[in-house]
Amino acid sequence: MTDVVQVGYSSDIDDRTLHEIYLWPFAEGVRAGVGSIMAAYNHVNGSLCTQNSQILNGLLKDELGFQGFVVSDWYAQFGGVSSALAGLDMAMPGDGAIPLLGDSFWNYELSTAILNGTIPVERLNDMVTRIVATWFQMGQDDDYPEPNFSTNTEDATGPLYPGALFSPSGVVNQFVNVQGNHNTIAREVARDAITLLKNVNQTLPLSTNASLSVFGTDAGPNSGGLNSCSDMGCDNGILTMGWGSGSARLPYVITPQQAIQNISANAQFHISDSFPSVTPAADDIAIVFINADSGENYITVESNPGDRTTAGLNAWHGGDDLVVDAAAKYSTVIVVIHTVGPILMEKWIDLPSVKAVLVAHLPGQEAGNSLTDVLFGDYSPSGHLPYTIPHNESEYPASVGLIDQWFGQIQDQFTERIYIDYRYFLQANITPRFPFGYGLSYTTFNFSDATVTTGYKTTPQPAPRAGGAQGGNPALWDTVFTVSLRVTNTGTRSGRAVVQLYVELPGDTLGVDLPPRQLRQFEKTSILAPGESETLSLQVTRKDLSVWDVIVQDWKAPVNGAGVKFWIGESVAVEDMQIVCTVGQGCESA
Ligand SMILES: *[C@@H]1O[C@H](CO)[C@@H](O)[C@H](O)[C@H]1NC(C)=O
Ligand SMILES: *[C@@H]1O[C@H](CO)[C@@H](O)[C@H](O)[C@H]1NC(C)=O
Ligand SMILES: *[C@@H]1O[C@H](CO)[C@@H](O)[C@H](O)[C@H]1NC(C)=O
Ligand SMILES: *[C@@H]1O[C@H](CO)[C@@H](O)[C@H](O)[C@H]1NC(C)=O
Ligand SMILES: *[C@@H]1O[C@H](CO)[C@@H](O)[C@H](O)[C@H]1NC(C)=O
Ligand SMILES: *[C@@H]1O[C@H](CO)[C@@H](O)[C@H](O)[C@H]1NC(C)=O
Ligand SMILES: *[C@@H]1O[C@H](CO)[C@@H](O)[C@H](O)[C@H]1NC(C)=O
Ligand SMILES: *[C@@H]1O[C@H](CO)[C@@H](O)[C@H](O)[C@H]1NC(C)=O
Repeated sequence: MTDVVQVGYSSDIDDRTLHEIYLWPFAEGVRAGVGSIMAAYNHVNGSLCTQNSQILNGLLKDELGFQGFVVSDWYAQFGGVSSALAGLDMAMPGDGAIPLLGDSFWNYELSTAILNGTIPVERLNDMVTRIVATWFQMGQDDDYPEPNFSTNTEDATGPLYPGALFSPSGVVNQFVNVQGNHNTIAREVARDAITLLKNVNQTLPLSTNASLSVFGTDAGPNSGGLNSCSDMGCDNGILTMGWGSGSARLPYVITPQQAIQNISANAQFHISDSFPSVTPAADDIAIVFINADSGENYITVESNPGDRTTAGLNAWHGGDDLVVDAAAKYSTVIVVIHTVGPILMEKWIDLPSVKAVLVAHLPGQEAGNSLTDVLFGDYSPSGHLPYTIPHNESEYPASVGLIDQWFGQIQDQFTERIYIDYRYFLQANITPRFPFGYGLSYTTFNFSDATVTTGYKTTPQPAPRAGGAQGGNPALWDTVFTVSLRVTNTGTRSGRAVVQLYVELPGDTLGVDLPPRQLRQFEKTSILAPGESETLSLQVTRKDLSVWDVIVQDWKAPVNGAGVKFWIGESVAVEDMQIVCTVGQGCESA
């Protein structure tokens, strides 16, 4: 989030929020043995990430025990001495303030700063040790193969060292086909994510002979050709992924149109975002495809500079109107949404003709096949929302709508603290349109026979300190409770259930404010036939029950889990809970 005229914004985050919400993914990565971590363009508390000693030395290297090296994002280094002392180990691409002139913040300057005593030589040794040790750790010293593809070009030949001023040419792309059976996996992943939000009177699944009319460009191909937009920087045809430097080129895409055509002999396609003049028969079914895109800010798509600032949380390309128009003509409308995140649905979700709604997220190359797997009932949908869907934007905390400004640095104050997404809706007592974790199936499930077993020792243990190993204090990852339960398919079709375990912590005992429930574990069953059961065990770690004590600078959890409750259900909403367990007192129906 930076450009040539404006510095990246500053994330001003308090210590507890940083620990309880934003630091955990880094702790997990360090614990898994990651070799290198990149410092961002942004600032934290007004101090640039590449020269923020508290972030790099304090949190990453001391508290989380990171043993690898910190690399700057490209051109994110803005000082030589300051970044070296703050814990940056590798500068990329290594230039000074003005790129490509041949000067550098480090290079000779680093030698000078060491010789004149500004930077201790031990810091240089530490940088080198971290970089070289990682090279050995990843086995790159031992028969490590040369790359046989290039991310810089799709040509077969090109510069062998593309960063160098002069480079010999050679074969850079061997076009090795590594696809194997990845299509099966891609289809499974996309299918498993498809989330059913509404299904009046079992409108879905469809019979293969149903008379279908399909609307929307999102059902069809990119009209400019596959991968025709650089770094996916456009919203044209089926939306398979967002845009930016992290996007990938599709080897092929099965569009919804192709997949539906392949199954149904009775489907008509209107691959357009304006509603055509049609006269449907009484039992014709409309399937309306809409989408919403976002990406990285070096590309602006339809006036959206990365974030959806112009589109807001609305469907793109007049998607709401397309649904409303279809609902006026057809008595049965199925809405399929490909989206990067929550969209608003209030203009049509309660219309009587809108009988079914599927969120297919960002499905990748097997978009069409994964969708027809669910539409025609070969599989029950088993995805659950990874975010809350509000009625409108004003239901979010004000701080979410970060105000753009032309002069000076944007300060994102994180005033919502730990109350992001469902935590905020719970705390503010707002019932959203669809709660976090929500998702229907073609069948129903009953959760029963829950037990909680303890892994807590009753003899005193040394008080855990925040550090101690890669990822922090290893005691944080001890399993302290195991929650087991039986899941039974009580409906009439096969399907997979997702058991979601939310933790309620005793805020009074811990001396902190807390949301009433936080998702800590979830588990998906295998495909259960009607009447079939499966027993699942969910492990709750000490980390799952801990809050950050800003005074002591360490984690704390309720002694022996006293006052901890586990809510087990199919979304975060109370009405979707099936079981509640209280530590020491057993479990009952919620
Ligand atoms: C940022 O500032 C807040 C408020 O003073 C403080 O709680 C927090 O520890 C600081 N974080 C870092 C990484 O400096
Ligand atoms: C030491 O050298 C560095 C790099 O040239 C420079 O930034 C710094 O000001 C110097 N310090 C002193 C005390 O001369
Ligand atoms: C291409 O590179 C990968 C990764 O090093 C290697 O596994 C593969 O065997 C190579 N293929 C060919 C044809 O060189
Ligand atoms: C569901 O089907 C029943 C029986 O056909 C019908 O009476 C009812 O109106 C339908 N409900 C909706 C919301 O369409
Ligand atoms: C589709 O076929 C089923 C029986 O296989 C029949 O009950 C139903 O009426 C048919 N629907 C249409 C729209 O033709
Ligand atoms: C069409 O369906 C058949 C079998 O139902 C399948 O083998 C084929 O791969 C499908 N074609 C496409 C393009 O998905
Ligand atoms: C947003 O939705 C809430 C219902 O949750 C409603 O009270 C409020 O008036 C709505 N605001 C706008 C601007 O539509
Ligand atoms: C689930 O199963 C339990 C135990 O068999 C039973 O007591 C409970 O009523 C069932 N709940 C539902 C919603 O079917």
